[in-house]
Amino acid sequence: MNLPTSESELEALGIDPARVPRHIAIIMDGNGRWAKARNLPRALGHRQGVLALKPIVKATVSLGVQVLTVYAFSTENWIRPQAEVDALMDLLMEFLRKETQELKDQGVSIRAIGDVSALPKRAQEALNEAMETTSDQCRMILNLALNYGGRDELVRAVNRWLASVSMEGRWPPGEISEADLAKHLDTRGLPDPDLLIRSSGEERISNFMLWQIAYTEIYVTRTLWPDFTPTTLLEAISDFQRRTRRFGAAE
Ligand code: IPE
Ligand code: IPE
Ligand code: MG
Repeated sequence: MNLPTSESELEALGIDPARVPRHIAIIMDGNGRWAKARNLPRALGHRQGVLALKPIVKATVSLGVQVLTVYAFSTENWIRPQAEVDALMDLLMEFLRKETQELKDQGVSIRAIGDVSALPKRAQEALNEAMETTSDQCRMILNLALNYGGRDELVRAVNRWLASVSMEGRWPPGEISEADLAKHLDTRGLPDPDLLIRSSGEERISNFMLWQIAYTEIYVTRTLWPDFTPTTLLEAISDFQRRTRRFGAAE
């Protein structure tokens, strides 16, 4: 589809440009099933999945979204066949190599959450280079969740914190607050997601952003990730805008 460029076009789709989610998180699921339905190897499904991401980034940038977090590889995904893991790492490097400049031109700053230190060295290098190249951009953050697990993030946050305070001889630190803990997460400084989208119909979180999605609106679509288009995204945003977020309040 052509991306809506004017406010009136968005209005026609029932989307209020002033109430677009600040932070959208996506569980990009269904690459394997997309490939299987076509008798193709899973790796080709992943390749098609990377292709699907490009127009979604463009759409979110043009909509004024501030942060787009995409779940690209979970702490659990290492148990997949080695060839599939290798293919995913190669695709990550290829994506960074090919797309960084264009992302920069769009004003996108690339960042990552997850334990990237466990990724293959070459992938870490490509990621660091992409992050450095785009670090001066501030239109939108593209946050790649790589070797990411919500539980792992919490444990790493506490461990990092422990290491820093014990080095400074300030342990125990006394009572801690939610804000204190949030400051040690991989997402420190970022707003919590307003909208979490999961493609391929699975109604589960799969260890994604456990802390940050406490009050996030969840939208599940049966569309498999390689078939996900900006139209699917706009449907999700339109659905989000029809909801009333109460955050525990009565009305
Ligand atoms: C999501 O697609 C991509 C990753 C988890 C890396 P899947 O590979 O999980 O696709 P399905 O769920 O098997 O269809
Ligand atoms: C979640 O998808 C992880 C990513 C999209 C990277 P999975 O396909 O790994 O999740 P499960 O196993 O179906 O819960
Ligand atoms: Mg899956």
